[in-house]
Amino acid sequence: MSQPSAAFSSGPRPVRVLFVCLGNICRSPLAEGVFRAQAEAAGLADQFHVTSAGTGDWHIGNPPDARMIATAASHGLDLGALRGEQVDAAALDRAHHVFVMDKQNLQDTLALGPEDEAKIRLFREFDPQPDDYQVPDPYFGDGDGFERVYDIVERTCAAILGRLRAAYGMERAV
Ligand code: 4NP
Repeated sequence: MSQPSAAFSSGPRPVRVLFVCLGNICRSPLAEGVFRAQAEAAGLADQFHVTSAGTGDWHIGNPPDARMIATAASHGLDLGALRGEQVDAAALDRAHHVFVMDKQNLQDTLALGPEDEAKIRLFREFDPQPDDYQVPDPYFGDGDGFERVYDIVERTCAAILGRLRAAYGMERAV
């Protein structure tokens, strides 16, 4: 059924999406890569600007953790070009939507004093199976943690993409 074109393509472009974790070498770079790949697969690559950052500064300039790169590669996703960044208030203010991986990340990002706190949300609020609403940190655990994080991130990014497509009228953008 045809609908008025004004119903589509509403809001800013590109929509700026920022994923945040602690180190920016495991969970948030995976979310960045997965979300970007899903947007590309939907023909919406130019509709989104996708970034990630960590609340900590240990891994600035570093590629993702080798175990995260390997897990992503086993699913056909190359994270090797990503480099660690630290989040600051300006990065939060530039983004339209900020998704944080756990409750400590939420506390730490809010402590930076962003202009708009409401756009900072727990990533797993959008997970159809949210458990405790946090993405477990795989960094200090065994190898299984990375595969589990991949599953969580894949299904939650798909849910977020669906929500943003609807919110910004992208359903007919392709
Ligand atoms: P991420 O995992 O927050 O998912 O990137 C971590 C990576 C590094 C450290 C902690 C968590 N670290 O303490 O260096």
